[in-house]
Amino acid sequence: MSHIPVLLHEVVATLDPKPGDFVIDSTVNRGGHAQALAKRIGKRGTLLGIDWDPEAIKTLQNKKTEFPSRTHFEHGNYAEIPGILKRLALPKAQALLLDLGFSSEQVDTSGRGFSFRVPRGGEEPLDMRYNPREGKPAAEVLRTIQEQELADLIYQYGEERYSRIIAKAIALARRRKAIRTTGDLAEIIKNAVPKNYEHGRINPATRTFQALRIYINNEFGNLSSLLTHLDQCVTSGGRVAVISFHSLEDGIVKRHFQDLVKAHQAAFLIKKPLLPTREETAANPRSRSAKLRAIQLV
Ligand SMILES: C[S@@+](CC[C@H](N)C(=O)[O-])C[C@H]1O[C@@H](n2cnc3c(N)ncnc32)[C@H](O)[C@@H]1O
Repeated sequence: MSHIPVLLHEVVATLDPKPGDFVIDSTVNRGGHAQALAKRIGKRGTLLGIDWDPEAIKTLQNKKTEFPSRTHFEHGNYAEIPGILKRLALPKAQALLLDLGFSSEQVDTSGRGFSFRVPRGGEEPLDMRYNPREGKPAAEVLRTIQEQELADLIYQYGEERYSRIIAKAIALARRRKAIRTTGDLAEIIKNAVPKNYEHGRINPATRTFQALRIYINNEFGNLSSLLTHLDQCVTSGGRVAVISFHSLEDGIVKRHFQDLVKAHQAAFLIKKPLLPTREETAANPRSRSAKLRAIQLV
């Protein structure tokens, strides 16, 4: 299924870019939000689209003509935007968007094992990296990580109360046979947790997969780094919008924004996070957990 941009109307209305503005989409993926923003800034405007997934950038490079503005599509980590701006000799932007997590294509077709639920059945190798050219794949992490550290990360990033039991089961299983695929890992977790796990509301592998993805991609470190350096990316008066998909990342965004407002470095554009309408969640179930927060730099 192709990725449907979440809270699209709300993002464009909040960032409210004007003709000729410079806008950064820090997680451009297939350019859903970027295209709507590019329409607003027009041919005098500049769009910088960044993604850590080289496949996403490769796809967009061939679609430049579909964007009415001047465009730069860059493979990179949003934590490094200040350096990317310098390298491309670009100024600070009037608006910056961050749409966190992974896209539908990454789950459905990347073959990198982002989900225990593989479309069309079957299994995928456990990689989970947005950028397969950097860091270690999940299978390698699961082979080498200490049981205690694994339990801690599953607890911290997955809020999984059976973290210790799951880490122990993984440590035992890997002594017998390498854990290579999404199916291998999902099966180990299913057999480790109580049969009535969360009363069947969610798959027992959900929280552990989320935790591993966050850890492998240093998601919270990257997010905090960008939010700490916003003043190097966005001009005074410029707008920043962030869409998050779970309480842990929303908490990071909320705290950073509150600190900036308290320090008189920003004002809230949205104080209580905006949620998708019922129509949007019905049309795009992935939007269910989305929250939009936004500030304007002083
Ligand atoms: C939810 S998708 C964005 C979808 C996009 N807004 C759209 O509507 O088409 C999130 C994207 O962020 C990218 N990403 C994750 N971590 C990143 C990072 N540290 N730096 C840059 N991109 C990152 C992922 O590769 C993914 O393509």
